[in-house]
Amino acid sequence: MGMVIIKTPAQIEGIRKSSKLAAQTLKHLEQFVKAGVTTAFINQKAEEFMRSHGAIPATLNYKGYPAATCISVNDVVCHGVPNQTVLRDGDIVNVDVTTILNGFYGDTCTMYKVGQVSEEAQNLMDVTKECLYLGIMECRPGNFVGNIGWAIGNYARKMGYGVVYQFCGHGVGVKFHEDPEVSHDADRNSGPKMKPGMTFTIEPMINEGKARVKIDKGDKWTVRTIDGKLSAQYEHTLLITDTGVEVLTDINGEYKIT
Ligand code: MF3
Ligand code: CO
Ligand code: CO
Repeated sequence: MGMVIIKTPAQIEGIRKSSKLAAQTLKHLEQFVKAGVTTAFINQKAEEFMRSHGAIPATLNYKGYPAATCISVNDVVCHGVPNQTVLRDGDIVNVDVTTILNGFYGDTCTMYKVGQVSEEAQNLMDVTKECLYLGIMECRPGNFVGNIGWAIGNYARKMGYGVVYQFCGHGVGVKFHEDPEVSHDADRNSGPKMKPGMTFTIEPMINEGKARVKIDKGDKWTVRTIDGKLSAQYEHTLLITDTGVEVLTDINGEYKIT
């Protein structure tokens, strides 16, 4: 474990603004995620929105990543590279955006449905969203970071799903990926303790089948389930406060927590 950055009030204000813009970007994309459009088109709309609001997409050229967003369809777990793939009725689509606004990072992702989706797909998305919620409920000063993954892992497995362990949540705010690492499948009371001023993501990737993943040999980024079954992911950027947690990327008022 390296160094966890405790943010100053000025940094927190910057991260709050960037996080809000990242969330607004996801909301703006709702109108474009439809049957017949390509993931490259959605990426272009996201990039235009971020730039027109004074932000830079953090993923672009990050370790060589070629796009402004990650767009992960069906069996793609994460880091889906936008391309000429055309969305079809029944697809489930994750878009993950990270904004850099005035040097501060906000990171969030959500799921979109193309037309009507199967009951299996809906259940997977519902459970994954609940996983993120259960993780957030563990966030308060003095609690162990590992209890986030403990809560998520137990619940997802009880529901019969695979919990991706090769990718984690992370500190975020003044850099893209900071300490601590936030596992979505951890031992109880493991890892560092949460402190006021910490900002990090929780971003569970939950698989319909096996937890294992593989990386596309062509683009070297796109991560797929090993068995071709569906995967879902939701992500928020969080601030640990003196009394609990603030969900910095929640612009829908879904999380009313102290
Ligand atoms: N936004 C992703 C995350 O939640 C990271 C994408 S890194 C990229 O951590 F290089 F794939 F873009
Ligand atoms: Co993230
Ligand atoms: Co992200």
